[in-house]
Amino acid sequence: MSIVEPIPQHVAVIMDGNGRWAERHGRERAEGHAAGIEPMRATLRAAQRHGVKYVTFYAFSTENWGRPAAEVDALMELLCCCVASETPDLQRQGVRVRIIGDRSRFSEKVRSSLDRIEADTAAGETLTMVLALNYSSRDELRRAVCRLAGEAAAGRLAPEAIDERCIAAALDTHGMPDPDLVIRTSGEQRLSNFLLWQAAYAEFYFPEVLWPDFTEEEFDRALAVYARRDRRFGLVGETRR
Ligand code: FPP
Repeated sequence: MSIVEPIPQHVAVIMDGNGRWAERHGRERAEGHAAGIEPMRATLRAAQRHGVKYVTFYAFSTENWGRPAAEVDALMELLCCCVASETPDLQRQGVRVRIIGDRSRFSEKVRSSLDRIEADTAAGETLTMVLALNYSSRDELRRAVCRLAGEAAAGRLAPEAIDERCIAAALDTHGMPDPDLVIRTSGEQRLSNFLLWQAAYAEFYFPEVLWPDFTEEEFDRALAVYARRDRRFGLVGETRR
């Protein structure tokens, strides 16, 4: 598909439907998650082709700890395996990996995998892949508020000096542009505690396809839909220019 303008700088993806995909194929839920890796690769390829600079994947939410232990364990195993197996390709493609979320709850093994992939891909300059892990927006905001309150209590920050820029800088996503487009697969139309602050002016796209069936062509379609949207950011007429 030809390149369509404008191109979003940052696309955030809620990879939904792995469980339903597994059920439809008579497989275990964990196999549905494993089948969700290739669509991540396809998304990165398509994003690079279009010149998208940031792709954020909602890979494990703070709420996901409540799933059956076998499923959580399988996701952690998948995470560690993928970090090891994908790193050389990511390096070759110039992809930098950044993790958002509270990694303190992960095992030592998972934490060191995450540290390693961030360090090993730090030189990547074509695209930043952000993995949201043990992430939820309310938890991210809670942690940011704690930090800012600590600074204020220590006398290093005047409460009235806390503006939007200051809050954004205290979030896990500091330094990144806000998502322009949020894609959620499987037909569900919810944000599910994902980037609530950052997605204030994002466009939303909800294809019916289950995540394991998401392809480069699906990503192209999402960008074509995005290109036709009229983003106004609360402005009208001449004030938009
Ligand atoms: C939602 O589908 C998907 C997840 C909770 C996990 C997404 C993870 C991957 C795509 C694998 C890559 C991530 C890691 C951690 C390596 P669901 O299970 O809620 O699907 P359902 O709604 O059909 O049950």
